[in-house]
This record gives sequence, C-alpha cells and structure tokens, in this order.
Amino acid sequence: MVTASKALDRVLVLEMVRVTEAAAIAASKLIGRGDEKAADAAAVEAMRHAFNGLEFDGTVVIGEGERDEAPMLYIGEKVGNAIGTGPKIDIALDPLEGTTITAKAGPNALAVLAIAEEGGLLNAPDVYMDKLAVGPGYPKGVVCLDRTPTENINALAAAKGVQPNEIIACVLDRPRHEKLIAELRQIGCGIVLIPDGDVAGVIAVTNPDTTIDIYMGSGGAPEGVLAAAALRCVGGQFQGRLLFRNEDERARARKWGVTDLDRIYDLEDLVKGDAIFAATGVTDGSLLEGVKRKKSGVMTTESVVMRASSGTVRWVKGEHHKGG
Ligand code: FBP
Repeated sequence: MVTASKALDRVLVLEMVRVTEAAAIAASKLIGRGDEKAADAAAVEAMRHAFNGLEFDGTVVIGEGERDEAPMLYIGEKVGNAIGTGPKIDIALDPLEGTTITAKAGPNALAVLAIAEEGGLLNAPDVYMDKLAVGPGYPKGVVCLDRTPTENINALAAAKGVQPNEIIACVLDRPRHEKLIAELRQIGCGIVLIPDGDVAGVIAVTNPDTTIDIYMGSGGAPEGVLAAAALRCVGGQFQGRLLFRNEDERARARKWGVTDLDRIYDLEDLVKGDAIFAATGVTDGSLLEGVKRKKSGVMTTESVVMRASSGTVRWVKGEHHKGG
C-alpha cells in the first residue's frame, strides 16, 4: 500500500469514470462499423472534452502519439481547466483500447486511463513491450522475464500447488508468439489466445473468474503501463521490458528519457506513488460489459475505477439519459 497523496484528490476517482464513460459512449456508436479510425477519433474527442471540464493541470504522458502525428491527446498536451493553478497530474490514456475489436464488434474493447502525480508514470515510447503478469497471492518474483517460459510456468505451478499442465496462460494471437505458444503447448498449458486488447488480458490474471493464471508475450508498451496501473491498485505482479525493432525506435525511447534499453521494469518502476486507474467497457469483455443502447434511447455503461493508495475498487453502472 502506498501513502495517500494530496495531489490525487479522491474526488478525482469518480471524475475519471466520467471521462472513460464519455469516450466509451462515443466509440460505441461505431461498434461493428468497420472503421477503426472513426471509432478512435470519436473516443479521443470525447475523452479530451471530458478532461477539459476538470479542475486540474494535466499533462498527457502516454497518449495518441507524438504531437506531429496526433491532433488530439498527443504526448505533452495539457488538459484540464486549471493549467498553472490546479494540481499537476500526469495522464496515461487510451481512449479506445481495441480499435480493431470495436470495428469488428469483438470482445474486450475499453476506454481506459491512468493518472498519477507528476513524474509518476513511465513515459513509455510507442514500441513493443515484453510482458509477464500474475495475479495477487504469489511470492514476489515467482515469475521473471529473465527466465524461460517453461521455467516460469513450472515456478508458478509449484507456487499454486498444481501441475504445470493445469496452468492457463493468456497470449496475444500473433505470428511473433509462435515459439512461445509452441513451448506452452509442449508443457500442456491451456492458452487463451486473444485477438487484441492486452490491457484486459493482463488484468484478467487478477480475476479468478477468468481462470487465467499468467499473461505472457509482447504488446504495446503504453498498454503495459496502463495495465500496470491497474495491478498497482488490485495487487499482482507485472514485469515489462521494452522491445526495439530498429534504431528509430531506440532513438524514440532515448528521447523519452529511457537510458537503459534492456531494463526490466517492475510494477513500481512503471507506476510510482499514488495512482488511479479507470476503464469503461466499449464492447462486452472479461473485465466489463460494453455500452448498451436501450430501446428508450437510454445508454448503459459499466466501469471500474481503482486507487492505489487505498486499494479501493469501485464498479460503476451508469445510465445515460442524454448520452445518445
Ligand atoms: P489498438 O487499440 O491500438 O488497436 O491496440 C490493440 C492492441 O491489441 C493492444 O491491446 C496491444 O498492446 C497491441 O494492440 C498489440 O500490437 P500488435 O497488434 O501490433 O500486435
């Protein structure tokens, strides 16, 4: 548990739900419409509008891209209506985590964000990150990115008191994971292959209902920081290591202040001090129900919001009578 902070006023907890709800409702109008860009743009605009109604001095540290490639919610953009006077907050956001999922009406698309005090979030460059996550209740260091998948599964199985072939892993379904998947199959593990949406995939290890014991494989580094923020609040272990495909990506990381390119980041390296994580479902998923439009025109949302300093997790059902 971390010390409560003045900057992250508890009032912000529910305000963050308003922000993710707004993005999710906007994106939901484009579910199944085959237009990833339009869905993302709608979510971005709604999230930005909602942020700008809030009394803080916010800086987007993980956002839609660099200033020259993203018109809104770019890295470094200031949001909030108390810039220079209000509490300084750093923000990691993904207004639509799962653009392809939304376009194809698949499961687990989310509007998601995390906030921390200034300097509290790793300014992760938009590169891949190798990720490893397990839920709460295991000894610290039970799994580690320095070990092979087989070693990690064996250690986790021993800690859980089951056979390795009883462990269930969640992995993004990508050709780059062919070797990992083959190794897990060799052990006899169950593998939940997800098409997209590794924020929900990582968080699934904290929810026994999903039966997922471990998250393995690479995905976006920004999504890694967002998932880490959730695990800081609810417990569990997460490790991430940035992966670079070329010199341009390495240069981008150095630009954001990353000096040790091979470093393994633990939860506390990715998200320091107090933090708030909020997400609203866009489509139905393992974490949250998606946005529903009733015959009457009323829209319903389901969100979760958590705070690291208190460990409180709130599930919020919303009815939006003028949201459509
Ligand atoms: P988008 O919302 O940007 O489409 O991201 C979806 C996602 O599946 C993330 O959850 C994941 O971290 C990343 O894409 C994986 O990247 P890739 O599709 O290149 O394997």
